[in-house]
Amino acid sequence: MSDTSLHSRQSLRKALRQARRALSEHEQEKAARALQQQLSRYLPANTKQLAGYLASDGEIDLSPTLSWCHEHGISTSLPVIHPFTGKHLLFQRFSNHTVMTTNKFGIEEPALDSTAIVELSKHDCLLMPLVGFDAQGNRLGMGGGFYDRTLAPLQQLHKCETRPVLIGVAHDCQQVSALPVEPWDIPLDVIITPTQRIEL
Ligand SMILES: Nc1ncnc2c1ncn2[C@@H]1O[C@H](COP(=O)(O)OP(=O)(O)OP(=O)(O)O)[C@@H](O)[C@H]1O
Ligand SMILES: [Mg+2]
Repeated sequence: MSDTSLHSRQSLRKALRQARRALSEHEQEKAARALQQQLSRYLPANTKQLAGYLASDGEIDLSPTLSWCHEHGISTSLPVIHPFTGKHLLFQRFSNHTVMTTNKFGIEEPALDSTAIVELSKHDCLLMPLVGFDAQGNRLGMGGGFYDRTLAPLQQLHKCETRPVLIGVAHDCQQVSALPVEPWDIPLDVIITPTQRIEL
């Protein structure tokens, strides 16, 4: 998509969300399978704990990826809106038996269970949904700042401390040449689409 005429983050979000919602069911299924194959090749070796998400609003579907993880002994978690702040994410263990609920955005999430929370630092990888991305590793989310706030503490860590690899995942049609960046935006480590791997 040409982004020369799109200036603000809001207008970019609108156009990119429309583009991914316009994908057909067949295109979505094909993309989801291709992404699973990409991730099965490119996930960091020895990944044991991976955070994903359940797709909505045309986001690339992680169902094949989450199933593949379960078949290969990789534990998965899903984001849950923090019950107190309402502005951060918690990550909670996810399996086929997890009791689900619908959050205030109409997105399915695990029903809150404090015994199933997986700390951010216990994850090897976080798969983050993108509304938009560029080849420099910048991401545009839905505009709530949920991931940015939740991941802000990672910026304070020393290089030697372990932290999850931040993997942005998206359809190829969500790429723009350059995104406007704000100081609080957390950059990605790698972006994976059905056809590309952008290592940063
Ligand atoms: N670390 C932070 N602390 C406080 N507020 C924050 C922080 N990060 C982002 N925000 C706030 O969140 C709002 C939305 O941020 P932004 O436009 O970057 O959302 P986004 O990256 O698209 O959303 P998300 O992170 O949920 O994918 C901004 O108004 C910003 O002030
Ligand atoms: Mg942001």
